[in-house]
Amino acid sequence: MNILVGITGGIAAYKTASIIRLLVKEGHDVRAVMTPMAKQFITPLTIATLCKHPILVDFFSPENGEWNSHVSLGLWADVMLIAPATANTMAKMANGIADNLLLTTYLSARCPVAIAPSMDLDMYKHPATQKNIETLRERGVTIIEPEDGELASGLVGKGRMAEPEQIVAAVDAILAKKSSSTLNGKKIMLTAGPTYEKMDSVRFIGNYSSGKMGFAIAEELANRGVQVELIAGPVQIKTLNPNIHRHNVESAAQMYEKCCEIFPQTDGAIMTAAVADFTPSECADHKIKRKGPMTLTLNPTQDIAGAMGKMKKSDQMLIGFALETNDEASNAQHKLESKNLDFIVLNSLNDKGAGFMHDTNKVTIIDRLGKSTSYELKSKKEVAKDIVNYMETFGE
Ligand code: CTP
Repeated sequence: MNILVGITGGIAAYKTASIIRLLVKEGHDVRAVMTPMAKQFITPLTIATLCKHPILVDFFSPENGEWNSHVSLGLWADVMLIAPATANTMAKMANGIADNLLLTTYLSARCPVAIAPSMDLDMYKHPATQKNIETLRERGVTIIEPEDGELASGLVGKGRMAEPEQIVAAVDAILAKKSSSTLNGKKIMLTAGPTYEKMDSVRFIGNYSSGKMGFAIAEELANRGVQVELIAGPVQIKTLNPNIHRHNVESAAQMYEKCCEIFPQTDGAIMTAAVADFTPSECADHKIKRKGPMTLTLNPTQDIAGAMGKMKKSDQMLIGFALETNDEASNAQHKLESKNLDFIVLNSLNDKGAGFMHDTNKVTIIDRLGKSTSYELKSKKEVAKDIVNYMETFGE
């Protein structure tokens, strides 16, 4: 996609270099337009090198008179991001002032616009600034809220530009709306990560699931315009994409309850979580002392995927995972049928680089129509793409 980054004269302009690097890494074509003041904060050379395109500042080049057309730039862009957006630029945007190339481009852009304000806390709080932000929001501009924290002035408060990853996630969410995916606009529930089953106030039974596969699928869906209801067990991974609504749970029982609440309002679900199969029959309210041998009674947990399979309506899709060590295909086939799944993603622990803790995975998809498709060892990000592609075409 084509992304036009506008840079204004604020100290946070140094972070814009990281934003551009991340956008280019995602495969976007990025061009930048800077206000004359922005050049005092970060050099055009740095930005041009990262964009792989010359940056634009003036209406025309003084050397050869070449015209920089704000109209064609505005039409070229699929999204325009202004980061940092100073109080001055926001005031001009709100009032239609067009005294530099960035502002004329903004006024002629037909694409969605996002801004990441950045300024001192008192400037940010000022009623004039707040009114300008509200005006822009009412006109459909996405405001990427600044954060609370230490500011360049040494004061502490709200006004620090959002972090690059957060800004890129907001841009991705805007671009997702333009996705041509058949899943665009759908709502999908996704379980991910392990569950922890408490045995006393300080201990639990858990497993090695990192949640990486599930979170990669959540990102992929979100980037194709899906509203993802992510029900996550205890994992360290952050989710920034505004299309992902995260519900943190700890135990299998909590995950089951959340799934029962959310699944009926969705177009389907993907069950990637490594749900504990057993939970201690009771949880001591104190730390159990080490006094000789100990016997722990475990009860089976709810089969969440199985329960969703029973609830599933004909217009909902249900996808499961199977991590197997032996009789892989027949075990997966049995799970596909017993849980009433549309397809199951099988990974075998016998394949090097597949399963828990790895950044790669090797999967076979088996569907209820009897088709089986095996894929190469790939990064979990690529595997997520394969799975979402399969969803897009399944049953067509
Ligand atoms: N699953 C679930 N709830 C459980 C157990 C599993 O939702 N209590 C889901 C998993 O998220 C996965 C699928 O069911 O999508 C298969 O999980 P797996 O652990 O392989 O199967 P189990 O049904 O637990 O069978 P077993 O452990 O005996 O192989």
